[in-house]
Amino acid sequence: QESLPAGYVVRPLARSDNQVRSNSSFLKTLEVLTTVGTISDDAFQRRFQYLKEHSDQYYTIVIEDMNVPPTSAGSATSSSPSLVTPGRGKIVAAGTVLAERKFIHELGMVGHIEDIAVSADQQGKKLGLRIIETLKAIGQQVGCYKVILDCSEKNVPFYEKCGFERKGVEMGWYV
Ligand code: ACO
Repeated sequence: QESLPAGYVVRPLARSDNQVRSNSSFLKTLEVLTTVGTISDDAFQRRFQYLKEHSDQYYTIVIEDMNVPPTSAGSATSSSPSLVTPGRGKIVAAGTVLAERKFIHELGMVGHIEDIAVSADQQGKKLGLRIIETLKAIGQQVGCYKVILDCSEKNVPFYEKCGFERKGVEMGWYV
């Protein structure tokens, strides 16, 4: 398995990852995917709590670059000092696997990989690959008989490098 760059760690998403420090929060990382919108810390905490209460279904992981000096905390954090964890690094990648409970295959489980994001300035360092390898391993460990995902045509070569193959067709209905 590819090793991460020095000082980078893979870990589960944490309650404190909603730091408002510029460019360092989990939500900021997701912006490479689509519009994230304005999410208050309260709203983030409620969603985090829901995921925690369903921790046998939602597995959200991040990669953190610990090389960031603690002094880089911005003044924007001064109004909510409790959100800042001194010495923490910067989140540079994220991803989720959702373990769906089925009736078929004798109450089998399917892993759904969702919202894979690597910060624009960190792409091409095998972080995406590491996120996917970790999510595949989680899916396998919790008992999923397969792990699937939807992606755009341009991401097909990336997912092929991660061991996935084309299967079926994605359909969508937007409300
Ligand atoms: N075309 C061809 N090959 C690619 C591409 C691409 N678009 N992207 C990555 N690869 C290759 C790399 O060259 C590398 O190959 P190598 O092992 O031969 O060197 C391998 O795939 C692994 O690449 P990583 O460095 O791990 O890729 P990265 O860290 O940049 O992550 C990702 C890829 C997640 C697509 C990233 O570019 C990103 O966040 N993009 C924007 C958001 C996005 O599209 N997310 C995926 C949405 S689909 C979903 O969430 C289920």
